Amino acid sequence: MRVNIQDTTLYVEQAGEGQPLLLIHGFPLNLEMWRPQLETLSQHAKVIAPDLRGHGQSTPTPGPYSMDMLADDCAEILEKLGIQQPVVVCGLSMGGYVGFSFLRRHPQMVAGLILVATRAGADSEEGKNNRDNAAQQVKSEGIQPVIDSMLPILMAPNTYQEQFDLVDQVEEIVAQTSSDGMISALMGMKTRPDSMPTLKKIKLPTLIIHGAEDQIIPISEAEAMHFAVVGSRFEIIPDAGHLPNLEQSQLFNQVVKDFLSTLQD
Ligand code: MLT
Repeated sequence: MRVNIQDTTLYVEQAGEGQPLLLIHGFPLNLEMWRPQLETLSQHAKVIAPDLRGHGQSTPTPGPYSMDMLADDCAEILEKLGIQQPVVVCGLSMGGYVGFSFLRRHPQMVAGLILVATRAGADSEEGKNNRDNAAQQVKSEGIQPVIDSMLPILMAPNTYQEQFDLVDQVEEIVAQTSSDGMISALMGMKTRPDSMPTLKKIKLPTLIIHGAEDQIIPISEAEAMHFAVVGSRFEIIPDAGHLPNLEQSQLFNQVVKDFLSTLQD
């Protein structure tokens, strides 16, 4: 469905009933990356998955897209959908960065956090330069070079070499991102703040999930978040890289389902 928010229209899918579960996708992906969760977790929760602006079927607007802007978009979507119950925010990678902003700006709307393949820290100087270089490349050559460089490292080496259908599917998802959307998200991620202080204050149920073979965000980042959030759960998904929800969807769904059931207790 399309949801009109202040300055644009965003594409959102919603399925199931019960505890609201907001799924925020990573860069440069869209809600299609949550298909196994929309299908299965919707039997246990009310799953809400937006295409962030400039991604998937949500049209780009002038950038940069700060993580605060994307978090406010998510909050507005929930309001427009009439969701009053606090939500479990599940963000993957950039979706996790958006989740930290969401928690800072809309704490009353959060019942729990699921941080997947993400990190709390801001970009290093080298990381910021890489964002600039990637944005420059998209400006001059389009999105294909980003697809070519990211695709082989988005998934675990075995997934990439053996699961051809999944690799094709991820490539199709990335190819739906507009060049303006990519550049604006890159510039937004570049200026995001350090979220470690936010994490250290979290008193909410928190689940941290990381693929054992993530080649984009080292597992040490997930361990650091686990130590920072008192009482957090930490699940390492074997045989998965940066997209554990797709590479090991059954195990991922089970872990999330178990976490959701603890919230009902
Ligand atoms: C993502 O998967 O969302 C990105 O790789 C995150 C990032 O570039 O920091």
